[in-house]
Amino acid sequence: MSFAEDLDYDLFNEYINGFMISKVMFTACELGVFDLLESEGFLTFDVIAERLGTNSQGIEQLLDICATLKLLNVEMKKEKALYQNTKLASLYLTKSGPKTQYNMLLYMSKTTYSCWNHLTEAIREGKNQYMRTFGIPSDDLFEAIYRSEEELIKFMHGLHEIWSINGRYVITAFDLSSFPLIYDLGGDFFRDPIPEADLYILARILHDWADNKCIQLLKNIHHACRPGCGVLVVETLLAEDKRGPLTSQLYSLNMLVQTEGKERTPTEYHKILTQAGFQNFQFKKTGKIYDAILARK
Ligand SMILES: C[S@@+](CC[C@H](N)C(=O)[O-])C[C@H]1O[C@@H](n2cnc3c(N)ncnc32)[C@H](O)[C@@H]1O
Repeated sequence: MSFAEDLDYDLFNEYINGFMISKVMFTACELGVFDLLESEGFLTFDVIAERLGTNSQGIEQLLDICATLKLLNVEMKKEKALYQNTKLASLYLTKSGPKTQYNMLLYMSKTTYSCWNHLTEAIREGKNQYMRTFGIPSDDLFEAIYRSEEELIKFMHGLHEIWSINGRYVITAFDLSSFPLIYDLGGDFFRDPIPEADLYILARILHDWADNKCIQLLKNIHHACRPGCGVLVVETLLAEDKRGPLTSQLYSLNMLVQTEGKERTPTEYHKILTQAGFQNFQFKKTGKIYDAILARK
């Protein structure tokens, strides 16, 4: 094998194993590894196994992979390995961490990961996989996504956790000082009347829906507000040729697997906003996961 082929093969292997890395992190979270280490500091694998009620060989393997992934630090004392959270784990992976993403990870592990098991069928059929994954009919997306109190709470906390990190980049993308009354669209906006406001925030809303439903919703907003009112659309933007960024592409595929929508390019958002009657289209790429679009009536 040439040097270039070696590199290709290494990359190929990274892709093959990618799902195992996600699952290691999800599982360590679910078992409570990071929470235990946060409260008790340096522990050996056998103590961790005992506290968490796991098999000791299994947990030792999991802990050592977490160390390789820089989620844990290991210190040797009297020939015994003592595990401790890294800063990354303390911040993001413990339930009470200042930037915790715990619920989001749980949601990714229990819901998204399960749905992605049917990615092949999603692509064949062009529809979400709630029926195959959970036996839930998906003709009412609301019913499917919020199918139990537990699922609703996990999803809502997960969404909030992502905003605790990404929110400031989108909310400062434009000067919003000319909009005194801001309405953050949520709940059942297809059925309930839309109140009058100066600015409507549609964060991770339009990506759930096909173009016709987005236009219908945007028309209802257009109808509800006075000339000059604005819509701030918060979504991850695809490049115009749709060949990147990778995260946006993956999220778009996830919309196929879990919703009725997709991620869009700036031009695609321009089109649906224009069809609903909005003008003065502007967009800002934040360089983070979520981007911002502002348009006015
Ligand atoms: C992905 S969440 C986004 C929530 C919030 N804006 C955020 O960014 O965290 C989608 C929102 O759409 C609302 N929604 C309205 N009608 C819906 C429906 N039929 N199916 C799913 N979600 C619906 C949900 O209540 C929820 O607030």
